[in-house]
Amino acid sequence: MKTTSGIVAILLGPVLVLSAGAQAPADYSAYPCLSYTLPCGKIATRKPQTKTLAGALDGNAERGRQIAQARDKGNCLACHVMKGGAQPGTRGPDLSHYGNAGRSDAETYTAIHDMRTRNPETLMPPFGTNEILSDLDIRDIVAFLQASK
Ligand code: HEC
Repeated sequence: MKTTSGIVAILLGPVLVLSAGAQAPADYSAYPCLSYTLPCGKIATRKPQTKTLAGALDGNAERGRQIAQARDKGNCLACHVMKGGAQPGTRGPDLSHYGNAGRSDAETYTAIHDMRTRNPETLMPPFGTNEILSDLDIRDIVAFLQASK
């Protein structure tokens, strides 16, 4: 029995190595869809996009709070603790004092637009790239996070 499985391993070894090599993502279809709106599996996953904040932030923090916490919009509470939010999940870091972290508006905007630019393995949906949230929505949410102290 031992000899048989040894032979099988020797025969299969190169095949497994070859197929692992073939999985290298040449396009971005290997990225998870991470989407609330795109029909996952039916259309190709959108590539990670680095979007830079244009001009001054000019966001409305109260509107940002509403969008971030609406279950059918940002739904950030599924993963993050946030100021004024109920029933938070814990997969993402606590954002209730984000305004004290010293992060810039620009880096926060880029991260919410598409967190895959920071961590390709992230669980966080690419809110801007997948058009779940608009430019204005993200500006308002950044204003809300910066005001959370
Ligand atoms: C499915 C879970 C999930 C959802 C939903 C989600 N996030 Fe995240 N978020 C994460 C995880 C996990 C991280 C940690 C970064 C990483 O993935 O490496 C993170 C990180 C962040 C960070 C960076 C924190 C830091 O200290 O650098 C910000 C800002 C953020 N999320 C904002 C949001 C906002 C705003 C929303 C809603 C519009 C949201 N997230 C929705 C999972 C999520």
